[in-house]
Amino acid sequence: MSINKSNPVVIRPASLQELSLVAELERQVFTSAVYPEFFFRQAHDLWPDYLILAWKGEQLLGYLLAAPGQQGSKSIGIMSLAVSQQSRGLGVGQALLQYLLQHCPAQTEQLWLTVAPDNQSALHLYKKSGFIQHQYHEDYYGKDEPRWLLVKQLMTVNRDKKD
Ligand SMILES: CC(C)(COP(=O)(O)OP(=O)(O)OC[C@H]1O[C@@H](n2cnc3c(N)ncnc32)[C@H](O)[C@@H]1OP(=O)(O)O)[C@@H](O)C(=O)NCCC(=O)NCCS
Repeated sequence: MSINKSNPVVIRPASLQELSLVAELERQVFTSAVYPEFFFRQAHDLWPDYLILAWKGEQLLGYLLAAPGQQGSKSIGIMSLAVSQQSRGLGVGQALLQYLLQHCPAQTEQLWLTVAPDNQSALHLYKKSGFIQHQYHEDYYGKDEPRWLLVKQLMTVNRDKKD
């Protein structure tokens, strides 16, 4: 993404004090199935390294939330990715994904996520980032809530990773 050196986009894990801003962004971006603010507190308690924010100065541009699989699992699930309406198309979503890829544990073999079949912007971003459409679930979140399950294998990425 384009970097303005005087006011660059900074990607980093969230602090506790920032969770209400994350919840506010969540409400702005998602009209239905909105995570409540307490959920972000729980997520931060459980997976502090996986609640990742994109900032430009004081402005929160987007967030990504991921979670590790159960103990011994080598996969990470991306639970949510959201970029504010006015910050879209600038590479923020891609930068958040890239941060996760560069900071996930070295043994991670796979990332997965689900996406609604009509969400063209998200599908474009994920496919461009190396995810493939793995399975289609007709009623994933309940009746008439279909989702694509997308996966990305990480072996090559981790080999290329710079520590
Ligand atoms: C999906 C979302 C996270 C993408 O974030 P973003 O910061 O706008 O994405 P980027 O700027 O990094 O774009 C990455 C690629 O997707 C493309 N893209 C972005 N918005 C697009 C759109 N509306 N239609 C088609 N392609 C789009 C970009 O052009 C870019 O591809 P390119 O480099 O080949 O041009 C953002 O649109 C969003 O928050 N949507 C609402 C919430 C949502 O649907 N989250 C995903 C749930 S699975």
